Amino acid sequence: MIIHKIKELREQIKEWKKQGLTVGLVPTMGALHAGHLSLIKKSVEKCDRTVVSVFVNPIQFCPGEDLDKYPRTLDADEGLCNDAGVNIVFAPSPEEMYGRGHILSNDFLTYVIPPYFYVDKLCGKSRVGHFDGVCTVVNKLFNIVQPDFAFFGEKDRQQLIILKKMVNDLNIPVEIIPCPIVREESGLALSSRNKYLTEKGKDEALALSKILFNIKMCYNKGIKDVKALKETAYGFLNNNHTLEYLEFRDKNTLEEKLTADGDTIVFIAARVENVRLIDNIAL
Ligand code: PAF
Repeated sequence: MIIHKIKELREQIKEWKKQGLTVGLVPTMGALHAGHLSLIKKSVEKCDRTVVSVFVNPIQFCPGEDLDKYPRTLDADEGLCNDAGVNIVFAPSPEEMYGRGHILSNDFLTYVIPPYFYVDKLCGKSRVGHFDGVCTVVNKLFNIVQPDFAFFGEKDRQQLIILKKMVNDLNIPVEIIPCPIVREESGLALSSRNKYLTEKGKDEALALSKILFNIKMCYNKGIKDVKALKETAYGFLNNNHTLEYLEFRDKNTLEEKLTADGDTIVFIAARVENVRLIDNIAL
């Protein structure tokens, strides 16, 4: 079933709560792929009822980003959700979520702002304000759906860490369930933005996962010095890649690591055919 209005969704949720059913939420921006489906599968298995939100959240896009061209495939998304056993697809309009005035100006919207230490690095450095938009919309979705469990992919690992921090700091009564990255056989991490790549671009994009797998192999062989591990990346890069960052950070606090250990996540972002791609791996 697809629902576009908050009021209607709330009525349904109230019914479920009355019956003592557990609710899982899978927040998405649509253009669903196998990565999303793995989150949905987990929710359907774990919870009595599953809501998938499909909302291209305008306030998490920075000026000049791909808000207008972001793939919107609601009919196909709804079909995939139905096949996967989802109970409700929640697909509000921007007006429904933010009211008309609010999408025209940020001056009239209450935001949830994550701590500066978590957003002044990695993706937050080039996407200023992005995580404010993410935390704000996810908070709203939590308030609307009141899920017992919410499912997020480890592909957006900085987002996941920030959302866990938000839930903890604001005492939000939801358990966040992290779900592993889903990759193509080639190693490429699935992303809705892969749709922007040509076949050649997809081949070039493999450099990201190759760099991460190779770093993990070197780490497992005993190399712990981050500078030495970073140097192993350059052999995989050519003129078709613009590396934005390759960083080693703590899996909970995002503090920088100079020596890699079992709490380290290696984060990478690069542009291929001007498409910004991200990936990460836990050591
Ligand atoms: O990861 C995403 O797709 C989005 O950032 C999210 C969590 C659905 C919020 O819009």
